[in-house]
Amino acid sequence: MNIMNFHQIQQLQSAQQAGPVSKEDFCNGMRNLAGHCVVIAANDGQCRAGLTATAVCSVTAEPPRLLVCVNRDVFAHGVITRSGRLSINVLGASQEQVARRFAGMIPGVSGGERFVDGDWREGCNGTPILAEALAVFDCSVVEIIPAATHDLFLCEVQDVKGTLDQAEPLLYFAGKFAAIPSHSH
Ligand SMILES: Cc1cc2nc3c(=O)[nH]c(=O)nc-3n(C[C@H](O)[C@H](O)[C@H](O)COP(=O)(O)O)c2cc1C
Repeated sequence: MNIMNFHQIQQLQSAQQAGPVSKEDFCNGMRNLAGHCVVIAANDGQCRAGLTATAVCSVTAEPPRLLVCVNRDVFAHGVITRSGRLSINVLGASQEQVARRFAGMIPGVSGGERFVDGDWREGCNGTPILAEALAVFDCSVVEIIPAATHDLFLCEVQDVKGTLDQAEPLLYFAGKFAAIPSHSH
């Protein structure tokens, strides 16, 4: 049997009573978590839209599923929801300009104009895919889980494309884009 001593019980109680940290404390912590940059793209038949994102993670290999977290205020959110499909395009270190464009960091470039640069093609059912991305996961949305300001899209992977050469990835760390040398084989 697992018996806790008084000190452990006190620790547990104080943890249970603690409220959430401030947004500032949360962001200070998150600045230390290096993220992989992707562009999430979709096409609802009316228009193409996309956003730069780091909130992407693997869920299960069988079935092949990924999770992406998208703010409901982002223009691409409605396009993803209407189409029920999205692509996840993993960016390499040389693709910082693509990341900036799809993050809305280049003034005057919005909506479909974000696709002007880069070898964008059509994947499954017309979803935009970036041919020169390190990896492209072409997905259908299987579940949408609301989470405060965001929706979590649980996605099933229907095709994997891209260069798949494990070149240097584009990271986001401490509020800046960053690169690491590719690992030695
Ligand atoms: C490095 C980086 C990572 C981001 N990650 C996410 C993310 O995971 N989810 C999200 O909803 N927005 C994320 N954003 C913000 C969106 O890219 C941005 O709000 C979006 O491009 C705005 O698009 P809109 O002007 O078309 O609405 C990130 C931005 C940057 C610079």
